[in-house]
Amino acid sequence: MSIFLPPTLTRRNLLAGMAGAAAATLLPVRHGLAGAPVVRDLALRAAPGRSALLPAPRGRTPVWSYNDAVPGPEIRVRQGERLRIAVENGLDEETTVHWHGVRTPNAMDGVPHLTQPPIAPGETFRYEFDAVDAGTFWYHPHQRSFEQVGRGLYGPLIVEEAEPLRVDRDVTWVLDDWRLGEDAAIAGDFGGRHDMMHAGRIGNVVTINGRVATGFAVRRGERIRLRLINAANARIFALDFADHAPLVVALDGQPVTPHRPAGGRVVLGPAMRADLVLDCTGRVDSRAMVVDRFYEGLEYGLVELAYGAEPLRDAPPDWPLELAANPLAEPDIGAATRHEVLFTGGMMGRMVMDEMAGSLGRDASGGGMMGRMRSMMGMMHGDGIWLINGVAAKGPVLEPMLTLKRGRSHVLAMTNATAWPHPIHLHGHSFRVVSRNGDPTPYREWQDTVLMAPRETVEIALVADNPGDWMFHCHILEHQMSGMMGVIRVA
Ligand code: C2O
Ligand code: CU
Repeated sequence: MSIFLPPTLTRRNLLAGMAGAAAATLLPVRHGLAGAPVVRDLALRAAPGRSALLPAPRGRTPVWSYNDAVPGPEIRVRQGERLRIAVENGLDEETTVHWHGVRTPNAMDGVPHLTQPPIAPGETFRYEFDAVDAGTFWYHPHQRSFEQVGRGLYGPLIVEEAEPLRVDRDVTWVLDDWRLGEDAAIAGDFGGRHDMMHAGRIGNVVTINGRVATGFAVRRGERIRLRLINAANARIFALDFADHAPLVVALDGQPVTPHRPAGGRVVLGPAMRADLVLDCTGRVDSRAMVVDRFYEGLEYGLVELAYGAEPLRDAPPDWPLELAANPLAEPDIGAATRHEVLFTGGMMGRMVMDEMAGSLGRDASGGGMMGRMRSMMGMMHGDGIWLINGVAAKGPVLEPMLTLKRGRSHVLAMTNATAWPHPIHLHGHSFRVVSRNGDPTPYREWQDTVLMAPRETVEIALVADNPGDWMFHCHILEHQMSGMMGVIRVA
């Protein structure tokens, strides 16, 4: 399937493009008493609608959306404020909203049957939680997500720091891809077996803030905080900013040592976010294409940075780049309890398991994992289903696969014994990514979703300080629905 290439850049579509069409911001009612947290009252309504994903003269696409917009309105609050969000269900099926990456109390986490009854058509559920961490988050349904998110239900949730980074512009790009037919309608083949067994539902049209992007107007010398959110069901992005050298300053909302991304590419699996500081170092009147290079041979131009005739300044500013840390408890790795987590299944899964069990066999330290994999292979019948620790989840999962002692440090030693990458997400917590294939990570980044390459082992560490039953799953939504999820209990 081909990607629709951005139409040729003209002055007209540049002005009409996403630079001018900033996503609608939901302006909450703000009230507060002295000493009490400021409360932000918001309302979201999930319902069918239409959205101009493709440039005219292509028709508007029937979608499901929040407040009639794709993405849904950008919710923007200050760290420490309380959000009170009334979610009305205008769909013909049940829904919920999950506040991805926000450390909410368990009852506000939006997982149907596990943390709340699903919201029936016509009904309203009130979510209420505090924005404890500053950063870039997002919201989406957790009920039949593979279709509800896939049809356009998602939106950004930005929590501003008490002292935000000094920049000229703070910009959010919500990335998505869609599987559209010639009539601009979304293909109805959600939950297809081929997508489940392979890379998930990859689309043929990529949008930024709900539109096929043409140009993004910038000025020489300008400093932009670019908040990237990957809202796609399955597509992984690896963005190359041509001769620009953006710095990554936060991942999944959590500050990280400012650094250039490895290989010059910003890699984002589904649900992942990155905050970049982008210094616009190009010449006036020049153009630079941002290219997505994740899938080899399928590179395409995502959007063109289009420099205006007027520079803003001659050299990038020397403003500070460090964000203040969020109030996360630091795991004590020495005292942590270790838990092994093994992901298996999918197309060619048997082959990868055979291979990995073989190589672990030559390495004494891998003995436990080898035994585990051997016994699991006995239980598996063929390809085509995803499993965590030998179990393929069916329907709403309620029984925990792991129980973490509350208030203690834990390490999850995860092995991706499959032929596919998986973005693995834990609810209710952020965790440090401490090692990959046995090597310490350079930044020990905090994440809520970690992308694991095929055959990779990744260790994550956290303090289990948020009590409750939390979802733990692959955020390729077709993998999640076909078994790759479980519940982790913190008690
Ligand atoms: Cu983005 Cu289980 O969620
Ligand atoms: Cu997956």
